[in-house]
Amino acid sequence: MIILGIESSCDETSVAVVENGHIVHSQILATSLKEHISTGGIVPEVAARAQIEYIIPVLQAALQEFKTSEFQISQNHHPRTLTPSHPHIDSIAVTTGPGLIGSLLVGVETAKALAYAWNKPLIPVNHMLGHIYGAWITHGQKMNDSWPKLALLVSGNHSELILMESHSKMRKISWTLDDAAGEAFDKAARLLGLPYPGGPQISRLAENGNPNAIQFPQPMPGKDNYHFSFSGLKTALLHYVRQNPDTSKADIAASFQQAIIKSLVTKTQRAAEHYQVKEVILGGGVAANQQLRKQLIETLNPTLCKIPDFAYTTDNAAVIASAAYYHNHPTDTFKVNADPSLELPIIGN
Ligand code: KG4
Ligand code: ZN
Repeated sequence: MIILGIESSCDETSVAVVENGHIVHSQILATSLKEHISTGGIVPEVAARAQIEYIIPVLQAALQEFKTSEFQISQNHHPRTLTPSHPHIDSIAVTTGPGLIGSLLVGVETAKALAYAWNKPLIPVNHMLGHIYGAWITHGQKMNDSWPKLALLVSGNHSELILMESHSKMRKISWTLDDAAGEAFDKAARLLGLPYPGGPQISRLAENGNPNAIQFPQPMPGKDNYHFSFSGLKTALLHYVRQNPDTSKADIAASFQQAIIKSLVTKTQRAAEHYQVKEVILGGGVAANQQLRKQLIETLNPTLCKIPDFAYTTDNAAVIASAAYYHNHPTDTFKVNADPSLELPIIGN
């Protein structure tokens, strides 16, 4: 089954063509990131305008790339229809939320128009669901059936643990009580005078710093739950920087990063043990953090961890097309809508 995925929830515009959830025939990505550096964060209006500018060229480029890779399509693939539209693409998938409404609408309306014109089913996809499947694209195989799995999803707006008993049975067992991990990195970077996005900046600076130089408070809300909390850490950083203006920024960055990672890894490990999971999947923009990847693998049994390639950490359409393969629930084309605060569904409970 071949799905064309569209992702436009924030500042990335991406279109990908993915077969059976893991064979990426094409993926094109444009980003308006540079336009947000001067404002120190994403301006929704600017991001939405960029989406409008990029969506058609990105779609065209993804289809062109797919054309040149068509010889790779498996022999036994049977197109769903023989319409003059696109003989090899079976369905269109699109991110419907969560995200910025102006950005989301560009992808959603483009997907609706395409599904209508090509007479293809349209599959709405939750952006966070997409982040779960990036690690398995990297693995180059269909996701295996070793359940339960635990997904640690860490991005600019989310820090959560999803317990999966199957594709159709999953629930959120942990979330952040205040700031998300990516948000904490972004705010810390701003405090240290570093440009947006903060995650890559802090982690680069941290490479030359001592993670044990400063003992920031460990954000560990409650011993009997798996929730996260990063706003106290951010306040501690603010006070520390004010009181210690001469401390090396590299040491501050390394210590701050370590506090976040310790919290993420410790909670994930505890949940993995409690629920006796067979696999831990990492996903979301913060999954690009080298130390997080390393420490998660070191702390948990390495064979337990599925870590995505960098290409599938930040927002991209391949993971959306992949999620749509495992959650193939087409919806009446004209009833599909963008929802900026779409929650991950609790499925099967
Ligand atoms: O998933 P994503 O691309 O967009 C959202 O859905 O939010 O995640 C973006 C977030 C930003 O907060 C960014 O600072 C963070 O991911 N990020 C990182 C790294 N690369 C991106 N955080 C820590 N370390 C990194 N290397
Ligand atoms: Zn994301």
